[in-house]
Amino acid sequence: MVPTPITVRVPAKVNLHLAVGDPRPDGYHELITVFQAVSMTDEVTVLVADEPGIDVHGEGADSVPTGPSNLAWKAVRLLAERSERDPEEPGVRLSISKGIPVAGGMAGGSADAAAALLALNHLWRLELGRDELCDIAAQLGSDVPFALQGGTALGTGRGERLVPVLARHTFHWVIALDRRGLETPTVFGELDRLREESKPNRVGEVEPLLEALASGDPRQLALLLGNDLQAAAVSLRPGLRRTLRAGVQAGALAGIVSGSGPTCAFLCTDADSAVRVAAELSGAGVCRTVRVAQGPVPGARIVSDDRAD
Ligand code: C5P
Repeated sequence: MVPTPITVRVPAKVNLHLAVGDPRPDGYHELITVFQAVSMTDEVTVLVADEPGIDVHGEGADSVPTGPSNLAWKAVRLLAERSERDPEEPGVRLSISKGIPVAGGMAGGSADAAAALLALNHLWRLELGRDELCDIAAQLGSDVPFALQGGTALGTGRGERLVPVLARHTFHWVIALDRRGLETPTVFGELDRLREESKPNRVGEVEPLLEALASGDPRQLALLLGNDLQAAAVSLRPGLRRTLRAGVQAGALAGIVSGSGPTCAFLCTDADSAVRVAAELSGAGVCRTVRVAQGPVPGARIVSDDRAD
């Protein structure tokens, strides 16, 4: 019997704190970061098919590669290898429905890879535990383990070593999407360049932010949001300065570039305020589109599995 397709829903992330260290010999930068999963999601369906491949739907689908460079497809190949299947002929198709901005600094590609791992684990009945899946996820990309885990987490190393963070409260965000994406390696490279040229400010210690998260007070948290990549993203895309200003003028407590950008995330006092800020920001003409989101939300999870067992 052909197994029923499996659909996994997976969230985007914002980095509430992103401290970037010096480049390592392997080209990666040592990070101390706090991720929060937010309620913007992709859905990835895996189904058994003779003709392997990827279909992508939704916003920005045209700019998602459907060949071997797609990170979700790399996830299929890696898991096929691990389970002694032919990675060239894995016998599955992926259907990706995008709700997370493409190349937006919200880890959309990583989210799809995490979703593919979880879905295939079920479709192929591999019975890999969370820890094993996280190890495989880390081989695919620095942000992939967090997309599996979700919630709020402290990430170290490349960002792949995770410890959950206490955040009992819901925070309300307005997310401003830019017209074009930014490539993550370019933004890290720009930060290295800026640091050779001058001494851009670095974010402080992470502990006060962890305390603010535990307290649940968005005003306290707003004062502590920080991202070392922001200077680099703004240097590459100077218009982001205007977007960040406009969000605060619209009533947000604080704004920050999300990860490597160019998406900006604005923290608001509550859900009503977020709706007002979103309306005003979308009228300001500083970004392509505006969304309201909340966090933390859970990581990748199966939303359809019709098998009887
Ligand atoms: O891990 P991932 O493949 O998602 O990273 C994409 C790129 O971002 C890396 O090739 C590297 O240029 C940059 N990066 C980095 N340091 C990190 C994470 C990512 O320099 N900790």
